[in-house]
Order: sequence, then C-alpha cells, then structure tokens
Amino acid sequence: MHDYLAPVFAQYPLNVARAEGVWLITPEGRRVLDLYGGHAVAALGYGHKGWIQALTHQAQTVSFQSNAVPMDVRLRAAARLVKFSQLPFESVFFVNSGAEANENALKMAFTMTGREEVIALEQGWHGRTAGAAALSWGAAGKWYGFPRTPFDVKFIPRDQLAGLAGITEKTAAVIAEPVQGVGGAYDVGAQFLQALRKRCDETGTVLIFDEVQCGMGRTGYPFGANLYGVMPDMITTAKALGNGFPCSALLMSAKVAKAVKLDALGTTFGAGPMACAVIEAVIDAIENEQLLENVRRVGDYIRQTCIVGPVVGHQGAGFLTGLKTNVPAKLVQKALLEHDILTGTSGDPNVLRLLPPFVLKESDVDVLSRALAALSF
Ligand SMILES: Cc1ncc(COP(=O)(O)O)c(C=O)c1O
Repeated sequence: MHDYLAPVFAQYPLNVARAEGVWLITPEGRRVLDLYGGHAVAALGYGHKGWIQALTHQAQTVSFQSNAVPMDVRLRAAARLVKFSQLPFESVFFVNSGAEANENALKMAFTMTGREEVIALEQGWHGRTAGAAALSWGAAGKWYGFPRTPFDVKFIPRDQLAGLAGITEKTAAVIAEPVQGVGGAYDVGAQFLQALRKRCDETGTVLIFDEVQCGMGRTGYPFGANLYGVMPDMITTAKALGNGFPCSALLMSAKVAKAVKLDALGTTFGAGPMACAVIEAVIDAIENEQLLENVRRVGDYIRQTCIVGPVVGHQGAGFLTGLKTNVPAKLVQKALLEHDILTGTSGDPNVLRLLPPFVLKESDVDVLSRALAALSF
C-alpha cells in the first residue's frame, strides 16, 4: 500500500495490530512489553473494561454537544478532576491536546498581568503550537517553524536557584514541568519548585505547571504539585487524562478563575461528552484500582532492580523514570526491542525513558531487569 503519511516521525520497527494490558501484539502474534505507553498516554493499559464501557455508553447515549449546551457528564468530569487533584482549584477548562492547554494557560497569564514575557526551564518541552513551541527548549533555529515567537521568551536553568533572579516584574508567567519528560525524566524537585513559587509571588508572576506528561498519577501522586508540595496558579494536563481519547485540561486557582470572562476562551471539541466520560472512567480506575499506590510501589521496584547491565543510575519519579545508561540510550532501546520490550529515549542521550501503563506489575519489571542484565555492548 502506498504510504501517504507525512514522514515526520521516526518509526519503531514494530507494527501493532492489537494490545492487551501492558502487551502489544504484532500481526504475526509477537508480544512486546510496552514500557512507553504511547508517549505516556496509555495509563490504564489496553482493553480496560471500565474505560471501554464508559466510552461505548457515552457514544450510544449522546456522542457530542458543544459547550453551549449544558451536560451533566461535563460537570461531573470537572468536579472529579478537581477532587482528584486534592488541590484548591476553582475552575477547569477542557481542550484537546497538551499544547492547546498550554496556549490557553498562557493566554490567561497575559490577560491577568498585561505583561509580555514568559520564562521556561532549560530542557523543558511544552508542545508544537506557536506559543508552546516557543517555550520548548531547543525548538528555536531547529524545528520551531514560525518566523518569530508571539511573545518574549527567556529560559532559566532547571537546577540553579540563582537563575530565579531572571524572573522579574516584567514576567507574565513561568511554565515548568515538575518532572521533565522529554528533558530526560528529570525531577526538578521540591527545593527548586518551592523557590520558584516564592519568586513568582514576589514578582506577581503567574506560575504554570505543565503536567501534560507527569500529571494524572504518573508520579504516584495526582500531580507533581502534590509530590513536591507546591500549589501553582494553573496546571495543564493531558495524555493519561483520556487514556488514548484525545483530551486535555487547564486547572485554574481562584485567582485565575476570577479573570476568566465570557468568550475569553473557547473550543469546539474540548469538553465533548465522550472525552468527559473517559476522564471520569480514568479517575474511577486510578482510585478504585489503587493505581497511585501501584505506581509508587512498582516504580520503587524498577529503581531497585533495574540498575543492571548498561544502566548505572536513575532519575525521575514513579512511572516517569529515566534509566541512566553508560552507552547511548538509543542502543539500549534498540537491543531491548530485540528482546520484545518497548522503551523510550529522551533529550538526554544517556537516559532511557520509561512511561509504562499504571497497571504494570513487579513480574513485568522482572522481564526488563533480566533483559538488561543480559545486554552487552
Ligand atoms: C510536558 C509536555 N507538555 C506538552 C506536550 C504537548 O502535548 P500534545 O502533544 O498533546 O500537544 C507534551 C507532549 O509530549 C509534553 O510532554
């Protein structure tokens, strides 16, 4: 068959026909352990009954109505998400992708402050739209693609408190991933994030946590904000939120919610009833199946048992784990796939990134540790 797909993605040498639990199955019946979860999306694994039932039921009941038409399922999804966060958020705006959630968060920050500059962390990654990509480390001059950024952008180091002095009364917003994903499953940590919160308070700057990758339970806590004990003004989240149904959310504190005016933000597909039904189903599953506990326990088990073979250390949190390798991570990734294990790489050439479904068990981790121990380069 002729391939009409735009050739913008490097392709794994793997064709997936079906999937169940944490296993991908090729047309020939080869079973591959999925420790990458489709870029951190497949939180509940594949074939989760509650998720399928929620999606099917909503599709049969009413598949779509816009935000102009009130729906109980939408109200419920927003309330569930705020409750799940265990943080004092006041308002939720649902959209469709991580980048879109970030664009809307930025819009709110500009509206609230009247300022024109945004600060992001080095090695951070926020998406491919004009605003989100402007804040993604390494985009400028490489893949940014737009003639100029829509606002002033500065980057500060992710690990030096002195860099926080770069945040001033001119800074509308700082955007940060509490645990960086593309940047190498790197935990920015409580000390840095608490100091960041303090500096934003001193300068009247809006603090946005981009939890598109690290949120929704991936660290073993609802959000990185919970893990590190820092309340941002906004959280953006996506990926695991829909477990594969495209959706994202912007959670807003009372201060931000007060600044939201009629028609200020908008979307056609965002908060569609099918998205809202799966968001409820994802939260149900995380809570009812004790998946946060599982992520914490099995995440610890990964760190205890997988520092073998080419792996010499680890970073990150929960199921956003970076295994530090003493050979290029790409080589380890390739060798593991030959052993029927799918993993990810990252912006750090010596970090192999694991983003498994939250239902991963210790026995699955044993498959990885045995394969790693058997590798030699
Ligand atoms: C931290 C972070 N922010 C934003 C995005 C962009 O999300 P999306 O691809 O859904 O637009 C990603 C995607 O990888 C991400 O990891």
